Amino acid sequence: MSINLQVIKDHDELYSRGVEIIQHQLASGATTFGLATGGTMLPLYEKLVSSTIDFSSCQSFNLDEYVGLKASHPESYISFMNKNLFEAKPFAHSELPNGEASDAQQEAERYETLLKQINLDFQLLGIGENGHIGFNEPGTPFEAPTHVVSLTESTRQANARFFDSIDEVPKEAITMGISSILRASTILLIAVGEKKRQALTALIHGEQTIDVPVTALQSHDNIIVLTDLDI
Ligand code: PGA
Repeated sequence: MSINLQVIKDHDELYSRGVEIIQHQLASGATTFGLATGGTMLPLYEKLVSSTIDFSSCQSFNLDEYVGLKASHPESYISFMNKNLFEAKPFAHSELPNGEASDAQQEAERYETLLKQINLDFQLLGIGENGHIGFNEPGTPFEAPTHVVSLTESTRQANARFFDSIDEVPKEAITMGISSILRASTILLIAVGEKKRQALTALIHGEQTIDVPVTALQSHDNIIVLTDLDI
């Protein structure tokens, strides 16, 4: 296990460090970037947007997308990425799983094939309070490729605040699998706030277990963790 743990208490400084890490990746020749959504990424994307960084010769691949939500829906992950990053900092090509595909399983297979062809230079990750990465919830085998997941009731409830009613919250998503994530050459995990303490402690000090998906990263040899938590 090789985790480069960087504890930075000041959030502005923490996210500036995140931008520096991404700039260093670009300067070192990285061209394929795995991206993430979620509240943790918003300050990072804000800083990237106001920086001079140029992704126009790079490709991006997002971790996940809801199934059955129109791309134009404000809560789709493609909408999130357009609004928070791509409109200001376009990539030469950006891919997310297509949540509108008529056959989600086939779409997951297409996405996995694509990921295998390009091999991500870099992957950005957040974590869930239960240790999920992407939509890989506890119990997901580490070997799983990109796949369709049924969202748990608690995840749907947690996300209901973004929709008019719980009935509108999608029941499924397509997510990169843990094995897909682990193929990235460098992984930057950002975990901010007390709610993430348990999951982050499991990664840094715990045993590897499918009950806490983020512990899969212990098998990777190039992980950077940015956090405001003393672990
Ligand atoms: P958050 O989500 O950044 O909104 O906390 C992270 C995640 O669930 O992966």
